[in-house]
Amino acid sequence: MAQHTEVIIDLSALQHNVSIARKAAPYSKLMAVIKANAYGHGMLDIADALSEVDGFAVARVGEAIQLREAGVKKTILVLTGFVSADEVAQFSNYDLDAVIHSEYQLELLDLSGSCKPLSIWLKINTGMNRLGVDRSAVVRIHDALQLSGKVRLPIKFMTHLACADDMDATTTSEQIELFDKSISGLTGEQSIANSAGLLGWQQARRHWVRPGIMLYGGSPFCDTKACDEDLLPVMTLKSSVISLQTVKKGEYVGYGATWQAKRTSLIATVGVGYGDGYPRHAEAGTRVLVAGQKAPLVGRVSMDSINIDVSQCDNIQVGDEVVLWGAGLPIEDVANKSATISYELMCGITDRVARVIKGVGDGE
Ligand SMILES: Cc1ncc(COP(=O)(O)O)c(C=O)c1O
Repeated sequence: MAQHTEVIIDLSALQHNVSIARKAAPYSKLMAVIKANAYGHGMLDIADALSEVDGFAVARVGEAIQLREAGVKKTILVLTGFVSADEVAQFSNYDLDAVIHSEYQLELLDLSGSCKPLSIWLKINTGMNRLGVDRSAVVRIHDALQLSGKVRLPIKFMTHLACADDMDATTTSEQIELFDKSISGLTGEQSIANSAGLLGWQQARRHWVRPGIMLYGGSPFCDTKACDEDLLPVMTLKSSVISLQTVKKGEYVGYGATWQAKRTSLIATVGVGYGDGYPRHAEAGTRVLVAGQKAPLVGRVSMDSINIDVSQCDNIQVGDEVVLWGAGLPIEDVANKSATISYELMCGITDRVARVIKGVGDGE
């Protein structure tokens, strides 16, 4: 019996989610965030499938170079910018857009030899206190960049929202206001919105929007599921039942004997574990779909397997398909039961899991 633990990447769901982003921000250019291997979906495949977006954002220069070397011609923004003078030359050679988030990057520009002028996005700290120049320094840094002769004009402006996923947070409007104040009198394209900003905060939709999680079908909000937003899951993690056994009342299942059968139970072992990216911290009771029926996880997650109680399911057989998250089972349910977020689950799929791309128009 072949054991299949695989992720299905559904490109028609991706296209659907892009159309939701376009509808929500029809006047903005769309920069798809495809860092961290496109949140675990496969960066090159996703970039290839997103031919109609206006640009891509990644976190590291290495990711951007990989895209250029694969033939991507669109704007590629590197969200951390350059961190050494050598990297400045790479930005120029590969025609990459750089975020300037700290003053030391001005010195790196100075130190770098002569190269083609760079496209720059000046990132302003409006309250997240992660990356971004101080608001009081915006005009000075902007002037210095303009005078450097090393950047293409006009410079663009961006900020990042800390709490856009929470529709009750007052900080989002405050951040947007601070952004507007700090660039008042300066001209250049602007970008504020991640997925939550794009869907939830109309004032955040500027010249460019930068959605990530929503494109993959994850909910950007802290208290809704993706399907509430009409988003479709792009990634489905699947495995199969590799063993079935009856456990008597009072017996235990799994490492540490943390789960005890309250009655005689039919336990299925599924060939997926934390070695594949299924979260080690998933609680007993986390649902999976086995042969289309819901069943709870029992005992601890192992490296290569989990156990589920199929006593209440009809006619479960060795070889039956098990969906861990994705189509039919919101990833947020698993994330909530594992003290994490959908982003981390998506990014955590390991190399040994086969990735199967389902193209637009392919049937099940
Ligand atoms: C600067 C920046 N913009 C946009 C995004 C996309 O965010 P999301 O995946 O929540 O849409 C991220 C993701 O971490 C980011 O760091």
